[in-house]
Amino acid sequence: MLDLQRQYEQVRAEILQAVGRVCASQHYVLGPEVEQFEREMADFCGTREAVGCSSGTDAVWLALAAAGVQPGDRVLTSPLSFFASASAIVRAGARPVFADIEPATFNLDPQKAGEVLRGGGEAKLRTLLPVHLYGQCAPMDSFQQLADEFHLAVVEDAAQAIGASWVNATKTDGKATAKRAGSLGVTAAFSFYPTKNLSAYGEAGLVTTSNPEMAAHLRRLRNHGSSRRYVHEEMGWNSRLDAMQAAILRVKLKYVEGWNQARRQRAATYDRLLAETGLARAAAPAQSAIAPDDAPIHLPYTIPGAQHVFHQYVIRAYRRDELREFLSARKIGTEIYYPIPLHLQPCFAYLGCREGDFPEAERAAKEVLALPMFPELTEEEQRWVVQSIADFYC
Ligand SMILES: Cc1ncc(COP(=O)(O)O)c(C=O)c1O
Repeated sequence: MLDLQRQYEQVRAEILQAVGRVCASQHYVLGPEVEQFEREMADFCGTREAVGCSSGTDAVWLALAAAGVQPGDRVLTSPLSFFASASAIVRAGARPVFADIEPATFNLDPQKAGEVLRGGGEAKLRTLLPVHLYGQCAPMDSFQQLADEFHLAVVEDAAQAIGASWVNATKTDGKATAKRAGSLGVTAAFSFYPTKNLSAYGEAGLVTTSNPEMAAHLRRLRNHGSSRRYVHEEMGWNSRLDAMQAAILRVKLKYVEGWNQARRQRAATYDRLLAETGLARAAAPAQSAIAPDDAPIHLPYTIPGAQHVFHQYVIRAYRRDELREFLSARKIGTEIYYPIPLHLQPCFAYLGCREGDFPEAERAAKEVLALPMFPELTEEEQRWVVQSIADFYC
């Protein structure tokens, strides 16, 4: 599914040098390495500020808190995401509200979000948290329109989308310009968990913003609510970023665009090889259900305007669980992101959601399958994955 050793071999000398530099500096938490990394990440994302923290989960919480989410508020997000998208809302004192996903991209559907808002039952809903799932930006123009109409803040869960961009986000002189994930809302959260496109050797996260006051607030919140030693202006937590992780991430950040390009190439190779088997239906904006008399595989769809970074290459598959077992017997790793939608998680029973509330998210949970994807994956390995899928269906 993922071989991190191959990437390590490429950057090993630089990583060891960076680790040595931190050990010699005796600065292990925050400090100059973290500040440099924050500067470089802000430049990369096209924001004024970036604030490192201890994980992507904390980054989502910090981003929401800095965007002004208060206890008792409601925050609208996708039911098809990693648990932290919703748990961070709860940690900020708010209540998660869900709307269904777009079946083609698996991202939160702005039309469905609009229906929730126009339904009017969510008076305390002041924040939208779209997730750029699998490395593809959610349709941010539409979310910005909703935010303008209903006076909401848009916070991005960009944990899976470093380097992804959205082309129609701003129009200067009538021309569309591309903006990177991280610069599309008031704040945005990134994760550098070891499986991510830019990965630490441990836990790490970061929040971006172009608002200096929010950045100052984020810096306080991640450090016990304190900007001066032993003076705690507000409640905060220990959410600081280690210098060691920052130094490692600084080495890798230089390569991330190339690695993302390699992921896109591998996605195109999967598209081609799967199409050649005759078993796959081309990616389409309108996805219908996987059905026995249809192609058993549906390819991923990239929406116009999004530049995908393929954190995951996710197909829909007929008899998904049996296919997964078949591939596993051939030592081919696959994953299901995510098998239980958030609104059906036991810990969110108090929200009162039921099976059938978000049918597209529930259907996706039964059909999606992530195939092996990382920049160093070889064409030979991809051919073996696709051949094995063909062997299962034929
Ligand atoms: C969409 C999303 N949000 C938040 C997170 C949380 O990040 P972390 O694992 O670094 O805490 C992740 C990580 O898996 C994620 O995929």
